[in-house]
Amino acid sequence: MSSLTEKDRAIVQLLLGAGTCPRCIFRFCRVGSQTLYRHPYKDLMKDLKQFLKGNQEKEDTTCFDVADPPCKRFRLGHTEEGPDDLNRNGALSQIPLVSDDNAAVEDSSVEVCNVCLGILQEFCEIDFVKKLSVREHAAWLLVKQEMGKLGLSLAKDDIVQLKEAYKWIIHPQLSEELGVPTDGKSLFEVSVVFAHPETDEECHFLATVCPDCFKPAKNKQSVFTRMAVIKALEKIKEEDFLKHFPCPPRSPKNLCVALEIQCNNGAVFVAGRYNKYSRNLPQTPWIIDGERKLESSVEELISEHLMAEFKADSFNFSSSGREDVDVRTLGNGRPFAIELVNPHRIHFTAEEMKGLQQTINNSSDKIQVRDLQLVTREAIGRMKEGEEEKTKTYSALIWTDKTIQKEHIAFLDNIKELKLDQNTPLRVLHRRPLALRCRIIHTMKSEYIDEHHFRLRLKTQAGTYIKEFVHGDFGRTKPNIGSLLNRTTDILELDVESVDIDWPPALDN
Ligand SMILES: *[C@@H]1O[C@H](CO)[C@@H](O)[C@H](O)[C@H]1NC(C)=O
Ligand SMILES: *[C@@H]1O[C@H](CO)[C@@H](O)[C@H](O)[C@H]1NC(C)=O
Ligand SMILES: *[C@@H]1O[C@H](CO)[C@@H](O)[C@H](O)[C@H]1NC(C)=O
Ligand SMILES: *[C@@H]1O[C@H](CO)[C@@H](O)[C@H](O)[C@H]1NC(C)=O
Repeated sequence: MSSLTEKDRAIVQLLLGAGTCPRCIFRFCRVGSQTLYRHPYKDLMKDLKQFLKGNQEKEDTTCFDVADPPCKRFRLGHTEEGPDDLNRNGALSQIPLVSDDNAAVEDSSVEVCNVCLGILQEFCEIDFVKKLSVREHAAWLLVKQEMGKLGLSLAKDDIVQLKEAYKWIIHPQLSEELGVPTDGKSLFEVSVVFAHPETDEECHFLATVCPDCFKPAKNKQSVFTRMAVIKALEKIKEEDFLKHFPCPPRSPKNLCVALEIQCNNGAVFVAGRYNKYSRNLPQTPWIIDGERKLESSVEELISEHLMAEFKADSFNFSSSGREDVDVRTLGNGRPFAIELVNPHRIHFTAEEMKGLQQTINNSSDKIQVRDLQLVTREAIGRMKEGEEEKTKTYSALIWTDKTIQKEHIAFLDNIKELKLDQNTPLRVLHRRPLALRCRIIHTMKSEYIDEHHFRLRLKTQAGTYIKEFVHGDFGRTKPNIGSLLNRTTDILELDVESVDIDWPPALDN
């Protein structure tokens, strides 16, 4: 008991008398020694009792009477006293501390802690951890504290948080049980949701004090979320709180129950580059008014395989720009990244990633993937940053109304850094705001085909609307190929030949 000092005595006495469990008492006495929390519950109780006895020799009974606030009897396991299982409310409160072994324990009753509602009592015993460990993966535990229990602590940072203490006890036990090390930085987390119906409504008085804190939210069953309660507790004046809530808190009749255990793994990210060889494939699912217009998409052709291998719950696809449904993406392809939410498998060797890429390549001739690799969340930013400054190269097949000869188009090759004014294209006006944007065509290279056709290769600033630069969009893009040639021109085919972003890094395969 080296961590408790003389100055703690009064607090220990007060809390113990109020029905607070030893581990919670440690928290409020700011005991930071993790190992101390891990001692068996009954030893802790014995030690606390010894501690109090220290200079209270006259108090030779193991029953401490605390007169104020509410008079409570606190009974210890090995006393000679007769059974006294009635608590203040006249209800039975016998909860076996450990369900097995010795007879001495049989006689012991443990009051449900009036602060943690039993989370640091029953739920830290090895039997409970065993229940948890049936779930295969478990590394760390997050306690959702029952609402309203924060009243006494009033969010003092130097108090050991309930969930910290819980973790200190649970981590080594889980580690031992599962034979895996626990790591505070692991992406794998186990959430234990505790419920305590008996005290569910205790925090409701806060709503009258701080109505602003409790706004109905979508997807929330109750307005009394943990964050809302914390916010209200920060706002409420101490005296108002004391008017509404007994201090120390009343002892509950029942232990809280572990409602559910959720195992989650933080998202992992996979990046690569894709080629699209089809002029009939959208990048993302094309659904209008709930009706599917085309059967597949780049996103789905790639993600379905990743979802299967990573066994994730869902995904989030992003890419460096996008192409129209009728535009192919050739060359080295377009960088993309996929966030895999709550994956159940996360370790893949470079070989396995290559195999996965092969599977994707084999599954469709509409798309191909290269440089498929695991990346960090932060690295995704590289794909998005400076997107506007990057260049893209295209190849366009162009039709002209009046006949052309080679010499009519040759001058295009000499135009450098051509500035365009582009009004938002008519075809995207329904989803983009009307705006005038300036874009640059860095270089062009023409290739004569016949009297009405030529191919134009363009190197442009990212974000340039190429189709509009070719046909002019009723004069909304100026200048345009039609205005430069004094002809009506239209675009028949467009391919992206390169997206000049050096991310993700090329892999040699
Ligand atoms: C999906 O990814 C984009 C870009 O990385 C991000 O802005 C967005 O918040 C993500 N959406 C979800 C639901 O994770
Ligand atoms: C998949 O296809 C791309 C594009 O053709 C190619 O670069 C890459 O090497 C292929 N990967 C595998 C593993 O087949
Ligand atoms: C992909 O196709 C090639 C050639 O048909 C085949 O040899 C290979 O085993 C396939 N790989 C996968 C992962 O499907
Ligand atoms: C287009 O017309 C302008 C003005 O009439 C003329 O200067 C220019 O040479 C013409 N260009 C072509 C490619 O015919």
